[in-house]
Amino acid sequence: MRAPLIDPFARAITYLRVSVTDRCDFRCVYCMSENMTFLPKKELLTLEELDRMCSTFVGLGVEKLRITGGEPLVRRDIMTFFQGMSRHLESGALKELTLTTNGSQLERFSQDLYDAGVRRVNISLDTLDEKKFADVTRWGRLAQVLRGIDAAQKAGLRVKINAVALKGFNEDELPTITQWCAERDMDLTWIEVMPMGDIGNEDRLDQYWSLSDVRKSYAEHYTITDLAERSGGPARYVRLEETGQKIGFITPLSHNFCESCNRVRLTCTGELYMCLGQEDMVDLRAQLRDHPTTEEPLEQAIRDAIEHKPKGHDFDYSRQRADGQMTRHMSHTGG
Ligand code: 5AD
Ligand code: SF4
Repeated sequence: MRAPLIDPFARAITYLRVSVTDRCDFRCVYCMSENMTFLPKKELLTLEELDRMCSTFVGLGVEKLRITGGEPLVRRDIMTFFQGMSRHLESGALKELTLTTNGSQLERFSQDLYDAGVRRVNISLDTLDEKKFADVTRWGRLAQVLRGIDAAQKAGLRVKINAVALKGFNEDELPTITQWCAERDMDLTWIEVMPMGDIGNEDRLDQYWSLSDVRKSYAEHYTITDLAERSGGPARYVRLEETGQKIGFITPLSHNFCESCNRVRLTCTGELYMCLGQEDMVDLRAQLRDHPTTEEPLEQAIRDAIEHKPKGHDFDYSRQRADGQMTRHMSHTGG
């Protein structure tokens, strides 16, 4: 076994998030403009390159892979990639293979995902109202996603719902969505909306609803207990005593948890970002394409990237960025 990835703050990097495409079949108002320009196909890592890349990370001690996008399930033949990753689950090197999806393709793929070893999925869903769903996703249809959720549960996948908290949009649905999740035994996490720069958002459906206000809203409807539990990421949890549900809150750009951060992000073009809140990245695709027959240089580039974390990663500086604009799209980096 090769030496695992330990950064200079003694954090073991065991969690890799991988965006497999910047494309999506939805156009959520807080995420994309309606006429998004996507990357040319040749910029993307091929499925074989994705496999090589992820396998190298697994060889270096990554135990959890989360596949994201864009919408990962619109990438052509993506099941081949999931099926390829199964071998690392079977060997025991990989402990969890999971994905974040908008749910639109789950009716088709849930069983295949389960068969490939996926056991949990995060599904993004901001509203249970058909009209509002069409408004916020522009191209999405609620019924299709609900069928996807049914299929996921039927296949045996544990579902977590991620809802972006939007003031004046899904504020009034908090009890409804919460109850719906309770009835279906799904976890629920609220995500604070991030300003995403120029995405042509004239609909004004991206009104900031702070998670402390979401929390207050829960306190009005339920008895809530703060949980100490952390996942190494930015989520905090409360328990609703009435239903026993665990509700999560995620502030994507909050950097209060850097000290326990266990993750890095790979974009669909093979750039490795050490931190969602900073611009420092390393182009791993070049290593991969320049050295088609040996993983040495790629491994070394990954180690170098992780070793250089502190240079570009000043906690106070990144905290300041928390309310700044992101200069890259989530669909590129992976949410
Ligand atoms: N703010 C917060 N969450 C966002 N997502 C996409 N754009 C934003 C944003 N501006 C979330 C989606 C989904 C995940 C892929 O990223 O809702 O849960
Ligand atoms: Fe697609 Fe997710 Fe972005 Fe919506 S938030 S456009 S579903 S990638």
